Amino acid sequence: MSSVITFLLAFCMILLVECQNANDRCSIDMDDTLEKVEWKTMHSNCTLEVKDQIKMEYNAAMIYLSLGVHFSRDFVNRPGFAKFFFESASEERQHAIKLIEYLSMRGESVTDIAKLVKLDPETMPGMASVSLNGKEALEKALQQEVLVTNNILKVMKACENEEVKDAAWTLPNDYHLVDWLTAEFLDEQYKGQRDIAGKLSTLLKMGSSNYHLGEFLFDKKLLSNEA
Ligand SMILES: [Fe+2]
Repeated sequence: MSSVITFLLAFCMILLVECQNANDRCSIDMDDTLEKVEWKTMHSNCTLEVKDQIKMEYNAAMIYLSLGVHFSRDFVNRPGFAKFFFESASEERQHAIKLIEYLSMRGESVTDIAKLVKLDPETMPGMASVSLNGKEALEKALQQEVLVTNNILKVMKACENEEVKDAAWTLPNDYHLVDWLTAEFLDEQYKGQRDIAGKLSTLLKMGSSNYHLGEFLFDKKLLSNEA
């Protein structure tokens, strides 16, 4: 038994000496490992544009959350509109998370999350207005969706720069991102814009002779997903 212990001790001593003589053979240099970034091919301008889009999605989520809260108030009491805007807020938040996950997949860490969720109060005029009605809220939502769509197109333009000056992979022309944005985001944006425009049209028709009655009835339709 003592000979086994002696053998193990001797073996450990040899390993220790080996490691001291060539410390790179016995440990992993984390800095060196982290510097191996050949697979991280996103261009910095493109990454910045995606982060701007994340900020925009969070801002849209907050606008819709504010609208949901507004229509939930006892003296406004439009549960259908409240439901629609709360659901819209969740969708926008989910879009922001999707973009964060995409950046993470491409090796771009999102560490400045506090900056990304910082609200832009100037984009939320009239949210606290007691008189904000359904028509105005849908108009605001449509306007917001157009802004988001245009920003996605801006991201795509920044990431699909045809002007490749050399063969380095780090230059723009990010086909995967642009393709992903087209399929995942633009499609949903155009359908979303059409949906809000349709809702607005129905509301205006229902309220053409008596707006308040029309909005009350339209709210019921929103609540039961019939609008
Ligand atoms: Fe969105």
